[in-house]
Amino acid sequence: MKTYVVLISVVAALGGLLFGFDTAVISGTLNFIQPYFGLSEAALGWVVSSLLFGCIAGVLIAGRIGDLFGRKKILMLAALLFLFSAVGSALANNLMVFISARVVGGIAVGIVSILSPMYIAEVAPPKNRGVLVSLNQLAIVAGILVAFYTNYLLVGVGENNWRWMLIVMTLPAILLFLCLFIVPESPRWLVAKNRTDEALGVLVKTSGKEKALSELTEIKKTLKNLVEPSFKELLAPKIRPLLIIGVVLAIFQQITGINTIMYYAPKIFADIGLADETALFQTIFIGGTNLAFTIVAMYLIDWIGRRALIIAGSAGMMLMLTGLSALYFTGLTTGMAVLVFILGYIAFFAASLGPALWVVAAELFPNRLRNKGMSVAIVSLWVSATIVAIVFPVMLEKLDGGSTFLIFAFICLLNLLFALKYVPETKGKSLEELEVELTR
Ligand code: BGC
Repeated sequence: MKTYVVLISVVAALGGLLFGFDTAVISGTLNFIQPYFGLSEAALGWVVSSLLFGCIAGVLIAGRIGDLFGRKKILMLAALLFLFSAVGSALANNLMVFISARVVGGIAVGIVSILSPMYIAEVAPPKNRGVLVSLNQLAIVAGILVAFYTNYLLVGVGENNWRWMLIVMTLPAILLFLCLFIVPESPRWLVAKNRTDEALGVLVKTSGKEKALSELTEIKKTLKNLVEPSFKELLAPKIRPLLIIGVVLAIFQQITGINTIMYYAPKIFADIGLADETALFQTIFIGGTNLAFTIVAMYLIDWIGRRALIIAGSAGMMLMLTGLSALYFTGLTTGMAVLVFILGYIAFFAASLGPALWVVAAELFPNRLRNKGMSVAIVSLWVSATIVAIVFPVMLEKLDGGSTFLIFAFICLLNLLFALKYVPETKGKSLEELEVELTR
């Protein structure tokens, strides 16, 4: 694999780092902003999900402006929005300002959540596409871990601790903005804009001289219809099944409950009686496990494939959640036991649904419709994430942990059955070959 492709993929994946940081940082602030802003449990759910509403808007905007102005410029815009959001939320003195700043951060998360994996899929060679797009997920989980770790380090700095936790994000935001200057535009976008010479220049750098010309010809073929694609085309008989697979997988990635842990772990631990600092310390294990098993997935994804990972991962997640639920039903919720099942659950997610969803979503759609198709799938992801974030604290309160986690275990089973029946294997082929195969 060419170092150049790895380098530009790493830069694009920095978007994932901010995505991870921004979504997870909130967990460490909850126990402090709740009294500061005087929030009920229900209000807390809304504060956590304010970012997610921004994400939905961000994805919707990204689809359109990413096609108009290119992936690179819009990623730069996202970096600036992250910066603005970090400063705004850290300095907020009232709830309105805080929520607005989080919404702006959410718009940025929404943008990078679609454009980073899409950009990487569009510059990556077929044989390494899985691992390169998974770099994005690796960056997401690294961002989550950094957030958990800095939250833990900063919890003792006094009453403004939550402000410090939030301001940390300015650093990666600036880094992303500056690094983006060195990446080229996506060759597939350049072809779509009739900038063939520039596209060829990029392809020579990413795939080598010999392959560049043939790749260019293939890309041109798939983009020969220059009429602006519409969302309606996603409903054409040959595309609709792909849309359904993308949307359903995206929904399952969320409603199998991953963010109940990512956003609320300190709260879960506090509810079973751990002190603030211990609770935040435990989240570091969660972030570390998430990172370690994402690396496992990166080894496996181009080898055993996306489909097998999703199937095995859902089964493992289901077992772990069932175990967790049993702990609550039997009253054995000591900190250690709960942590073990949570870590097992995270490990299975990280080795499967975590990266595989983003890889499949970026591969599933034809070149011409990728942006549109992926937007619909990823909007569904954020809508589901929002619903889970709002409903989870209320579920814990009204149903208790036993039933709550059992419901999520059942959803893992549904995901498993869906993948067995409908999800195709996409490893190893060029996006153009997949286009022919999946729309036959
Ligand atoms: C999901 C995020 C989640 C993260 C956790 C991502 O793939 O889309 O919602 O927070 O993984 O690792």
